Amino acid sequence: MTFVVTDICIKCKYMDCVEVCPVDCFHEGENMLVIDPEECIDCTLCVPECPIDAIFDEEDLPDELVKFTAINAEYAPQWPVIDHKGTPPPDASEWEDVQDKYPEHFDTSPAARGNDE
Ligand code: SF4
Ligand code: F3S
Repeated sequence: MTFVVTDICIKCKYMDCVEVCPVDCFHEGENMLVIDPEECIDCTLCVPECPIDAIFDEEDLPDELVKFTAINAEYAPQWPVIDHKGTPPPDASEWEDVQDKYPEHFDTSPAARGNDE
């Protein structure tokens, strides 16, 4: 089992989640994070940290978000680990209520370093 970041995170990327993960299994893309399913120990700590409820137990994913299990598994090995909170995008709050941000707003690029430094 694993926990999964969904497209609710896209362009919001608040990063509170990474501060509590005991195994540093979050990976950072340019505009969202994903969880490495090989590393996640299902501790549940990250779920209440996300202010917009973007993280789900894979077994509780609504049907329309099931695809994010594979997306997390695909991008985690390609993106750098993030283990401390950086600065969220300046317009993050404007994206909180936008529906179906994937695939239109999904950026496949790894995070450009510097955001969290
Ligand atoms: Fe990390 Fe626990 Fe969240 Fe998994 S459930 S990503 S181990 S904080
Ligand atoms: Fe994304 Fe929520 Fe973490 S917006 S970066 S899953 S705190």
